Amino acid sequence: MTTKKRIHHIALVVRNLDEGLRFYRDKLGLRLDKLETVEEQGVKAALLSMDNVEIELLEPLSDDSGIGRYLDRRGEGLHHICFTTPDIRAEMADLKGRGVELLDQEPRRGLAGLICFMHPRAHAGVLVELVEAPE
Ligand code: CO
Repeated sequence: MTTKKRIHHIALVVRNLDEGLRFYRDKLGLRLDKLETVEEQGVKAALLSMDNVEIELLEPLSDDSGIGRYLDRRGEGLHHICFTTPDIRAEMADLKGRGVELLDQEPRRGLAGLICFMHPRAHAGVLVELVEAPE
């Protein structure tokens, strides 16, 4: 089992990214690192950074994307937690060997690096992401 070094980011789904930025950037003073539309994931995304962790804000591009349906069902709030891993392929093989259901069979490119998601039914309905992030 590889060691998870830290939480990379906590992701929140929001109806309106600009309103999210007005709170996290303008009122709390977090630094906006990235602002991107990721068409394949159906989101407009922002990464705001603090010393050791980032906050990811996700606004669905449409109601019928995965994240749009999530927002519809569960409302705004926590979407996923992301842990760093030094070697995502090894980690994914290891998790599969432990019976953890993965949503991605291959690592894919996310906002933060190479990522994969575990199925929320792995535990307590919370989506967990792994990232192999460039240091
Ligand atoms: Co994420």
